[in-house]
Amino acid sequence: MATILVLHGPNLNLLGTREPEIYGTVSLDDINQRLTELSISAGHHLLALQSNAEYELVERIHDARNEGINFILFNPAAFTHTSVALRDALLAVAIPFIEVHLSNIHDREAFREQSYFADIAVGTISGFGATSYELALNAALSQLNQNSQ
Ligand code: DQA
Repeated sequence: MATILVLHGPNLNLLGTREPEIYGTVSLDDINQRLTELSISAGHHLLALQSNAEYELVERIHDARNEGINFILFNPAAFTHTSVALRDALLAVAIPFIEVHLSNIHDREAFREQSYFADIAVGTISGFGATSYELALNAALSQLNQNSQ
């Protein structure tokens, strides 16, 4: 059994009501619930945290190593485009992760094109709304299966 951590960055607590034309109408609780159900069906354990504070996400990533977290799904939200600190935290713990975005960050403002995570992630899933998280979970499960063989 693996433990997967899903991390959500700033403003994602407002999902459902935040710019629904871009981010959809599904709430963060619904997304976490769905990921939990899918993880349980696959025989794994899922933990989730949303924070608007960069340092809380950094500390959660540090703790993940001590807890033996096997895989991280990470939507860094606006920190995608700004955070060397979160990039360095992920490099420090060396836990494989997938970068997740609800919107297609390559089809928006130019500043969203830059990601501090894309080159160190296993991969990036962007543009499928709440389904991006499910696709990322499936990709993580397939990675975990490959690594356990
Ligand atoms: C986002 C895209 C980011 O550019 C933005 O700052 C977010 C959400 C997404 O999921 O589409 O807050 O990460």
